[in-house]
Amino acid sequence: MEARIVFPDREIIFPIPDEPIALWHLIDSCNLECAYCYGSFSGGSYKQNIRKSLRENSADLDHARRLTDLGIRRVHFAGGEPLLRQDFWQLAEHFTMSGIRTAATTNGTIYSSREEEGLRSGALHRLMVSIDTMDPSYGNLYREKHSLVLRNLERIVEQRHKDNWSTEIGIYCVVSRKNLQDSIELARWASDQGVDYFSVQPVHLPKDHRLKKELSLRADDLPDIKALFEELEPLRASMRLSHPSYLSLWEPLILNPGRIDRCFAGSELLMINSRGEITSCPAVELIRVEGRRFGHLEGDQIRDQFPSPVQDCGLISFDCICMFEFVHGG
Ligand SMILES: C[S@@+](CC[C@H](N)C(=O)[O-])C[C@H]1O[C@@H](n2cnc3c(N)ncnc32)[C@H](O)[C@@H]1O
Ligand code: SF4
Ligand code: SF4
Repeated sequence: MEARIVFPDREIIFPIPDEPIALWHLIDSCNLECAYCYGSFSGGSYKQNIRKSLRENSADLDHARRLTDLGIRRVHFAGGEPLLRQDFWQLAEHFTMSGIRTAATTNGTIYSSREEEGLRSGALHRLMVSIDTMDPSYGNLYREKHSLVLRNLERIVEQRHKDNWSTEIGIYCVVSRKNLQDSIELARWASDQGVDYFSVQPVHLPKDHRLKKELSLRADDLPDIKALFEELEPLRASMRLSHPSYLSLWEPLILNPGRIDRCFAGSELLMINSRGEITSCPAVELIRVEGRRFGHLEGDQIRDQFPSPVQDCGLISFDCICMFEFVHGG
């Protein structure tokens, strides 16, 4: 299947694998407070919720069973910080035992014997660690605990190779106008370490965010973005990188709004929030639209409505394009 994304000056065809994926925001809290995080968009932070949601949610194993029944082939856990969940590895194991591929994105600060055991057991097919730079001053300015994350990442990759773990290790690098150079250095380091997958994600910030001007990519960054992509390209020989169709969307999206004729959202991709509510896609505007909510994992109504792809959407933006990576196995 393909999606056609139409801009005033070009069309981009984006392949959509026929392999439904659920992006499950397992938890609404986090132990960090990254300045650009989605959690900061309404002026708050995921850290404020931390006391509320550390307990395990006994309903979630039932939710996991329902997702399995729906024919989901892959689950990607995110949050907040998913590894804060006490039952994280139980949930991962449930899916893996049901033949469903599992991935998680973590901030990389939590790596104890529990995580080591979980990774060794193969309960996750891929663990993505979020880190944006090798430079601690940038790393601690917009995220936190940079040296701990780098140290944990090194340990995880080393153990993965030494003990031949099946779990792939990847990096999610959020790219802003201030780390375009740094992300190349990080990618080279990752390739030398034996990281399996390196994904670049453009920072998305709402218009009124205090860091919008400071971090968001704009037209005068295009030469540096082009240079980044060119320098990444040779690294494809040693590790998996972002899909070329996804990278080809960055420039037109910076320059112009576009439309997608048939999105994967609502059919090949479902978003699940920490309360088990299901929506079609991450774009806040679209979630508000009636019909884009698919109900709740506790009810049966989802079965009647899924799949229901979003047609002709003009909201395509950096808010949602990292989802293009997810549907391609990221
Ligand atoms: C919201 S976090 C949740 C998982 C985990 N806490 C982490 O940091 O990896 C998921 C991913 O979104 C990225 N992210 C957060 N805020 C972002 C933003 N405003 N624009 C683009 N990516 C962002 C993070 O760096 C991370 O890779
Ligand atoms: S670690 Fe992840 S969820 Fe937590 S504040 Fe940072 S980006 Fe947000
Ligand atoms: S807003 Fe949703 S439906 Fe529209 S392009 Fe983005 S992910 Fe697809």
